[in-house]
Amino acid sequence: MNFCVTTPIYYINGDPHIGHAYASIAADIIARFKRLDGYTVHFSTGTDEHGVKVARSAENVGMDTHHFSNIMSQKFRDLSRAINLSEDDFIRTTEERHKKSAQTFWKLLEKDIYKSIYSGWYSARDEEYVPENEIVDGKAPSGAPVEWMEEESYFFKLSAYQDKLLEHYEKYPDFIGPNARRNEVISFVKSGLKDLSISRSKFNWGIPIPDSDGHVMYVWIDALANYITSLGFPENKEYVSQMMENCVHVVGKEILRFHAVYWPAFLMSAGITLPKRVFAHGWWTCDKEKMSKSVGNVVDPFYIIQNYGLDQLRYFLFREVRFGEDGDFSEEALKNRILYDLANDLGNLVQRVLAFIQKFGGHLTVNYDFSDQERILFANAKNLVSRMRSQIEKQDLHGALNTVWNLVSESNKFTNDMRPWELVKTDVSRLNAVLTVLCESIRSIAFGIAPFMPDTARKIFNFMNVEGKSFDEIENNFIDQKFVELSPLFPKEK
Ligand code: MSP
Repeated sequence: MNFCVTTPIYYINGDPHIGHAYASIAADIIARFKRLDGYTVHFSTGTDEHGVKVARSAENVGMDTHHFSNIMSQKFRDLSRAINLSEDDFIRTTEERHKKSAQTFWKLLEKDIYKSIYSGWYSARDEEYVPENEIVDGKAPSGAPVEWMEEESYFFKLSAYQDKLLEHYEKYPDFIGPNARRNEVISFVKSGLKDLSISRSKFNWGIPIPDSDGHVMYVWIDALANYITSLGFPENKEYVSQMMENCVHVVGKEILRFHAVYWPAFLMSAGITLPKRVFAHGWWTCDKEKMSKSVGNVVDPFYIIQNYGLDQLRYFLFREVRFGEDGDFSEEALKNRILYDLANDLGNLVQRVLAFIQKFGGHLTVNYDFSDQERILFANAKNLVSRMRSQIEKQDLHGALNTVWNLVSESNKFTNDMRPWELVKTDVSRLNAVLTVLCESIRSIAFGIAPFMPDTARKIFNFMNVEGKSFDEIENNFIDQKFVELSPLFPKEK
């Protein structure tokens, strides 16, 4: 079973921030869940290095563009390491393999390409052509400045794909998520698609168009093609199509149009299989304000990880806000989540149950003569992953974490009700049943959090002497399993 998940590739005009970390961690959670669920996964991320914006940033700091790209791309690689990404590929659009792929891709589109003159507005910050009717107070809808452009350009016959795209959205209702965004895309396409300018002639920081007179590709064609480059295009066409068929693109809401309109139209034209789904997430503000360099409120993921811990951040980003909606980042909210959800709820459950087992010999004698209450918790523990599976399928990462935390609460309540510290004096056989159910539950919880908080899950697996490599392990019992010495899950000192 194949599965593919991608992050957007990041512009390297500035340092990585929490928004980049967010998109990457989301895709990582999905990739990790699928691997634990037995899929062969291809998870790609990388940097988008061509275009006006990057070229100007290099110029502004007086650096050669190649040199600037190398330095900046490395910062995104460093972010990938700092947030514990499990990517299979980190792609840079300045790599030779990508040039070959993008040029071959272009050739496949040629029947839909013609040359004309583009004259209109362009926003370098968004790397986007802005139609006259969308200009507000002389700016792009995003607030970015626009500049007038008039040059010879190749165009892609996007208008010819309007009906085909609408048919595709109709036939595959899950192609775009969340639903509200799907509706926005459909009305955008219904309102009429214009042909798209896809080359630049007065500018050269890009991939040259094959056999052409100095034109380079519009950065978005080049960028979108990264997804197939990473899968091995132009070689391995069959594999590329197979993977695309099972591919989820995780993107921010402001770049959904590129992924859900332009990209599928290009793929249709090239005869390459469309991705299974494009999911658009929301934006983080900081203390209720839009993050911006000039305001100086951009959240630095390296700082947060240093001060609060990585798994703490990974947890927070997906528990605090429903994935798909906008959210507000504050250190206060992060501290509360760490204290209440992680230290109090999860930390205490694991600590008190496993410490108790340690104290009484370090292993369980399995007792399957369960009471009703025990049977319910046992069943809920065993079913945790299947409940999460349908949520992850829809990229409901927030819902999946809620599902895990319901089991955490239920297990804490069960511990309080059953009072193992008293059973040890009165009924050792009952005590074994209670602890067995709790251990099954903790193991399931560890699997449930593993995609979100891989290091924390690893610690729990180690205490319990569980491999933690596949959800199949949830089926095994704990007979004669030796538990290992505990250490705090979320040490107070970071
Ligand atoms: N290079 C393009 C993507 C090409 S994909 C073929 C791009 N790069 S970006 O660096 O500007 O943005 C990358 C991602 O980061 C986007 O999905 C964007 O939504 C996300 N974020 C940037 N700032 C963000 C927040 N403040 N909050 C959440 N995510 C945001 O677009």
